[in-house]
Amino acid sequence: MAATIPSMKKSALLGNLTPDVFMRQYWHKKPLLVRQAIPDFSPLLPKEALLDMAAKDDVESRLIRVARGKWTMRNGPFDKLPSVRTPEWTMLVQGVNLHDDAADALLRKFSFIGESRLDDLMISYATEGGGVGPHFDSYDVFLLQAQGQRRWRISAQKDLSLQEGMPLKILRNFQPEQEFVLDPGDMLYLPPHYAHEGVALGECMTYSIGFRAPAYQELAEGFFQFMAEQIEQPGRYRDPARRPARHPAQLDKDLLDKTAAMLRKVSFSKKDIALFLGEHLSEPKPNVFFDPLEKPLRPGRFRKDACQRGLHLARKSRMLYLGEHVFINGQSFIAGKTDRPALQRLADRRILTGAEVSEASDDVLAAFHDWHVQGWLRLR
Ligand code: SIN
Ligand code: CO
Repeated sequence: MAATIPSMKKSALLGNLTPDVFMRQYWHKKPLLVRQAIPDFSPLLPKEALLDMAAKDDVESRLIRVARGKWTMRNGPFDKLPSVRTPEWTMLVQGVNLHDDAADALLRKFSFIGESRLDDLMISYATEGGGVGPHFDSYDVFLLQAQGQRRWRISAQKDLSLQEGMPLKILRNFQPEQEFVLDPGDMLYLPPHYAHEGVALGECMTYSIGFRAPAYQELAEGFFQFMAEQIEQPGRYRDPARRPARHPAQLDKDLLDKTAAMLRKVSFSKKDIALFLGEHLSEPKPNVFFDPLEKPLRPGRFRKDACQRGLHLARKSRMLYLGEHVFINGQSFIAGKTDRPALQRLADRRILTGAEVSEASDDVLAAFHDWHVQGWLRLR
């Protein structure tokens, strides 16, 4: 499992910049082309394995084709695909990191951005001339060339209007400003809303390390749903001073005033927001299902093995923390002061050595066993 690059250490992955310099100068600001970001890179899984994944119903995939300027898009799963000799089609497979260890390890090389922002590894396979057209994304992306060559054309244009009636986002007026041909191991970083178009020069595979930035509307809706489960408002409306109604259907002013006064008393703190955000951001996507172990170990045996071999988070697990709160797969826990280091280390590094597990308290070991039974945590 890849370790995070220390923020002050220069890294080939970032064109010999430190993560610190990359974040200050490029992240969310301007593109960066890195030749040989991963020298001698070769695909982590063969195209056959990737296309097999696109046949599964727990994998999100899309087939995009273009012919004489007409775009078509179909969502997977796919039991039949066009021939690899047919030009101008591309298959996008989302969340490959959830299904493959090497893909997960590649995604983790980008943990320096922060787990709350890291989304997934998407892999595209394209035949000659294939691509998804000129477009922009709402998120930052690192585009790593894995096999073959792809020509990228990019533009800082402000006109991001889209062609109407298309099954996917295609820019109406793409004005490329720069062009690069990427070979395996080369990588292009693009900030959000940067116009780009990647065209396969022969068969090729491109890996997109994608990020997420929740829309404020999504956060607000989610937060008020979360609060709906937290609030407690005792009492009931009372009106001992009521007088006979002259207009029986008129909304009652006293009821309105008292409701408004009651709602003004509902308050929420930053702690409520942190709880919501941790649960929300650690919630697996709706198509993610854990595979509970067929034969989970009994607590005593689990403890013995975990103390010897160590533990690691399952690929699909999302774990975050803040202060006393620990979030895993949409659930939150309060951790005592002495239990926090082990839990926070597990969340940051996704791995604990046997020696580190041995130092965990009985409560933490009981939680680990529970998570092991649910398929969230695995023995190394
Ligand atoms: C691709 O890999 O074909 C598409 C990636 C992108 O443009 O964001
Ligand atoms: Co894109």
